[in-house]
Amino acid sequence: MFPKNAWYVACTPDEIDGKPLGRTICNEPIVFFRGPEGQVVALEDFCPHRGAPLSLGRVVDGKLVCGYHGLQMGCDGRTVAMPNQRVRGFPPVRSYPAVERYGFIWVWPGDPAQADPARIHHLHWAGHPEWAYGGGLYHIRCDYRLMIDNLMDLTHETYVHADSIGQKEIDETTPTTHVEGDEVVTSRFMNNISAPPFWRMALRGAGLPEDQPVDRWQICRFSPPSHVMIEVGVALAGRGGYHADNKDKVYSIVVDFLTPETENTMWYFWGMARHFKPDDPELTEAIRKGQGKIFSEDLEMLERQQRNLEHWPDRQLLALNIDAGGVQSRRVIERLIAAERAGATAGAAA
Ligand code: FES
Ligand SMILES: [Fe+2]
Repeated sequence: MFPKNAWYVACTPDEIDGKPLGRTICNEPIVFFRGPEGQVVALEDFCPHRGAPLSLGRVVDGKLVCGYHGLQMGCDGRTVAMPNQRVRGFPPVRSYPAVERYGFIWVWPGDPAQADPARIHHLHWAGHPEWAYGGGLYHIRCDYRLMIDNLMDLTHETYVHADSIGQKEIDETTPTTHVEGDEVVTSRFMNNISAPPFWRMALRGAGLPEDQPVDRWQICRFSPPSHVMIEVGVALAGRGGYHADNKDKVYSIVVDFLTPETENTMWYFWGMARHFKPDDPELTEAIRKGQGKIFSEDLEMLERQQRNLEHWPDRQLLALNIDAGGVQSRRVIERLIAAERAGATAGAAA
């Protein structure tokens, strides 16, 4: 259950530097590599000779050489050469639109005719001197929509992440959810509370007192196909909270690109773009490590939840008020899938 006519994050640039990468995105086995001008290429991970995965080969002068019998694949999915063979009649393999932008490689697994790079999710902080970014990748054996539920309902922080970002005020404060077109926003504001360990560290890093009461916010934004950007931060209490002056607050954006691998497995590109001390690579690394640990705490819960749902496929689940963000996000996804199917049917009929 995922839209295919959409830009998904497929990998990071370092994953394809000097070597091909095989990765399944939305049930499509794809090989990513760099062509002769360094441009990103995405092709079916299938050698037309005997079906070996091209990703097991290597890149020579911008061509992908199959690791089995040396077929040379060009960037357009057509065979360029093969030792001692004439390749003119070789069937081409499928090529996918792919773009490198904002420090990520994006791929469009659906109809190439509809792939417009202008529709890639805009990241205003990427490459901006006032912001720093650090992140990582996890493979998770769960339906990516369980991760959307997880990120659109941060109540779980109190329980899953009790030692770092969790605090009881989170589940004592009711979130509000609203839908703006295809975007779903769930917000929670907690005023006059004490900062949990992560935010103490951030306050300290920004030269602000860590032992004073703060106003804390979490604004989770789902946008299609499956991105969740969460604005998080704390301001010294009574200075305007989210709207406080930059000198009185620390804030960042928790970045989550949830890319389906199959119906029940996913790639989780996680990270944090922060708006404090951007020129401190050691802080970037410390936050990255801390966030990696926090997010690893979700993995077991999600994978075991997935197994339970497979074991009891007909069980009805509850949708409480805290679940509104995930429920609304799923509705947007369902709407997009329905539109995609209707478009495909109309296209076939025309
Ligand atoms: S399978 Fe690729 S060259 Fe034979
Ligand atoms: Fe979590």
